Amino acid sequence: MTEDGTVLSSSPRASHPLRLAAILVMLAAGPATAADAEHGKVVFQACASCHSERPDAIGPSLRGVLGRKSAALEDFRYSNPMKRANLTWDEINLREYVIDPQAKVKGNRMPYGGLHDPNDVDDLIAYLKVLK
Ligand code: HEC
Repeated sequence: MTEDGTVLSSSPRASHPLRLAAILVMLAAGPATAADAEHGKVVFQACASCHSERPDAIGPSLRGVLGRKSAALEDFRYSNPMKRANLTWDEINLREYVIDPQAKVKGNRMPYGGLHDPNDVDDLIAYLKVLK
């Protein structure tokens, strides 16, 4: 990962044969394809510029976010709408939030329009599950 979070521009090409192999394996396994946490890590680069572990990060840390209560980190100043949201970040709530942050928590301060490709959402959630 680079400092500015733009990252991995070379890696999709480098890992192409492996990804192709993974896709073939999933196709062979049938339509219920497993979400791909490796690709989720790439999708997460869109989040990582704000959700880093740096003390001056714009967003709260997302390590261990799966199962966490909303607005639970002591060292982050959440907006009032987020403080009042009273959610648990389970898979369903996280999904709805990343697809349309303003619809899920009206007035929250995350400056992000939402993720629209359903496969990207699946893969991102798979990655967040293992982000500890
Ligand atoms: C431009 C900066 C920015 C980007 C990009 C961004 N976020 Fe956020 N995020 C924030 C901020 C700021 C908050 C706090 C919002 C508030 O308090 O209203 C937040 C809050 C959250 C929360 C709630 C965390 C908690 O502790 O309750 C989740 C979950 C989250 N973001 C997920 C994501 C995901 C997943 C992505 C990428 C798809 C993403 N964010 C992209 C800035 C960002």
